[in-house]
Amino acid sequence: MKKVICFANQKGGVGKTTATVNLAASLGAMGKKVLVVDFDPQGSASLSFGMPDNGSLLLKALETCSPLPVLETPYEGVDLVPSGRNLVAARFQFSLAMAQDFLNICLEQTPGDWEWVLIDCPPSLDVISLAALWAARHVIVPLEGSYLSLNGLEQMAKTVSDLKQQGAKLEIEGILPSRIHPRRRIYWEIMLRLEQDFPNKVAPVIRENVALTEAPGKGKPIHLFARSSNGARDFQEVCSWLVNHFEKKNQPVLPWETAAMNNPPAPEFNLIGASSN
Ligand SMILES: Nc1ncnc2c1ncn2[C@@H]1O[C@H](COP(=O)(O)OP(=O)(O)O)[C@@H](O)[C@H]1O
Ligand SMILES: [Mg+2]
Repeated sequence: MKKVICFANQKGGVGKTTATVNLAASLGAMGKKVLVVDFDPQGSASLSFGMPDNGSLLLKALETCSPLPVLETPYEGVDLVPSGRNLVAARFQFSLAMAQDFLNICLEQTPGDWEWVLIDCPPSLDVISLAALWAARHVIVPLEGSYLSLNGLEQMAKTVSDLKQQGAKLEIEGILPSRIHPRRRIYWEIMLRLEQDFPNKVAPVIRENVALTEAPGKGKPIHLFARSSNGARDFQEVCSWLVNHFEKKNQPVLPWETAAMNNPPAPEFNLIGASSN
């Protein structure tokens, strides 16, 4: 089944784009088919693939409820809906009430057999980000190892829970600690808090690594720009974590569980805590 995952955090510079681009490229290199939707008017994901764009075609598709403009990237298995500064107009053209539909409808109409759709969000909680969240089923929140990032995460969790109350089928699947300095004490403190608050949802960390800062300038994902860098290794780990996470999630229920669901125990065997009147 197609997995639509949004990389979101209203804070900028926390590694959303870096994660979207490099996880897409790693998944593609594993033989998966991936669509990256650059949904940020800054167009950083498009630039990182070496495919700068002005966002006009994307905006037009959103305005006319048409299929999204998809381009092939030079990278195995990865297609891209590019974006750029003209997408900013969406902030004024679409009301918050329209956020539920305007990306969702276009995505549904876009022909393609991608197993993974990764949406890169802008650093804001405006109509553009909300539309991305409505179009997705899963959220990954990249964050830096700082106390303020915990506050940002809390706000993100609240937004997701508000959207769920309004009917969105959305789940925070992972917290991705990024730009990490493992030798700093704060790193351990933050990790402890994350593990407590989001058990089983904390991804392997991405360390601060200069090659990750340089790769977008060459329009290349990290595994092709600096194959033996810490950045490439870290993203490989996170990619395996991501695939495992969804494999576990999609595992069919065990036969005995299905049997139990189809044949619930008779009421007389189900008396614990129950009263007969
Ligand atoms: N782990 C990292 N190590 C070094 N630089 C990083 C790392 N992650 C991101 N960067 C750099 O930090 C800047 C912001 O990252 P980016 O992914 O664009 O954040 P966001 O999309 O959340 O705004 C970019 O210049 C990027 O190359
Ligand atoms: Mg970004």
